Amino acid sequence: MMITRSRKGLTDLATKQSHERKAGPLPSPKYHAGRISEVAQHKDEVKSPTMKTEARVVSNTTRIKPATVLSESLDSVLSKNFCQLTLGERNRSEIRTGKVNQKVDITAIHPPYSTRRGHSLCLEDIVGFIKQKRTKNIIVMAGAGISTASGIPDFRSPGTGLYANLKKYNIPYPEAIFDIKFFTCDPRPFFLLAKELYPGKHKPNYVHYFVRMLHEKGLLLRMYTQNIDSLETIAGIPPEKLVEAHGTFSTASCHLCYTMYPAKEAKKEIMSGKIPRCKICLGTVKPDVVFFGEELPERFFLHSKDFAKADLLIVMGTSLQIEPFGSIINTVRPTVPRLLLNKDHVGPFKREALKKTDVVELGDLTESVKKLVSMLGWHDELKELMEN
Ligand code: OAD
Repeated sequence: MMITRSRKGLTDLATKQSHERKAGPLPSPKYHAGRISEVAQHKDEVKSPTMKTEARVVSNTTRIKPATVLSESLDSVLSKNFCQLTLGERNRSEIRTGKVNQKVDITAIHPPYSTRRGHSLCLEDIVGFIKQKRTKNIIVMAGAGISTASGIPDFRSPGTGLYANLKKYNIPYPEAIFDIKFFTCDPRPFFLLAKELYPGKHKPNYVHYFVRMLHEKGLLLRMYTQNIDSLETIAGIPPEKLVEAHGTFSTASCHLCYTMYPAKEAKKEIMSGKIPRCKICLGTVKPDVVFFGEELPERFFLHSKDFAKADLLIVMGTSLQIEPFGSIINTVRPTVPRLLLNKDHVGPFKREALKKTDVVELGDLTESVKKLVSMLGWHDELKELMEN
């Protein structure tokens, strides 16, 4: 079974079963093999969709899709070797040949943090580490909660979250709107929603500029975001510092043969209520946002190097409910401080006895970030950055 993004404890099968209970069986996705093999007749290079690593060459466009086949449950995979969760054949061979991970010289990384006299860390300690320049490789992991101050709802907040407000789309269960199997059968709900989601209407807020500030100070190793609103880019975080783990609206491609399609053209058609069609196989074209059941972008695999290098992890505005994003948080070295800025406890921060290096600051994210920024003495600089 192919699982690339799924809610914890909720497999594709469980989702399907829950849908079947509520609304009868989903139409079976016969399209897949059929359409792909049609393309294959035209292009010998196109391999079977069952191959682990698929290099599809269509009209001079080559896209290597990393393998994401999981035959084991998430927990058993995690307990054996987390890397198996997300690495495709190409990445595995890089590890075997020593091109990945072994490159990271652990001895060159900062020594472990000593917690004050063995006590748990607190926000003041984190501020101290940043001020003393002991943290020069900060990773930020973000979710929809960082954009609520820009007027974009998150997904799961009761009442206000997107998933609580999808009645008008008439879909069997909320996540169906981002489910590739459902999309294949009926792309219209997603395209209706996409009209509202296309970036352009909203502006970055204080939180996005805080991350930009980390970059300006040379402290940001990478920002991993699940958001598809492009506000990180608009805030000026450069592409090399950004991993858009759940894809982007800035490119588009056929969801069957992966042939690229001009993003502007796709947007124009979607905005005018049309369904963009692939010029090669006539499959439906969609913006390259990652749906449940799809593979994550290759850049996401940077995490295997980045997280080993990180000296501070800041997690903000995410429920950490979606895999594999939710689990890479556990791949920083055990002594690395992890700071959660969120409305509520999530993921490993739910533990009653937190790890000594875990720090939680609950409340409204803008307020928490403002507090952190003023403790760092960066307030005026950040204000100036936002104004300019
Ligand atoms: P969620 O909606 O699951 O979680 C957002 C988190 O941010 C929650 O814990 C909120 O309490 C918190 N939050 C919201 N506003 C906040 C605020 N102003 N201050 C502090 N905390 C706040 O969103 P994600 O974790 O991003 O995928 O969801 C992950 C993925 O699930 C998304 O990328 C999306 C969705 O399915 C797609 O399908 C595109």
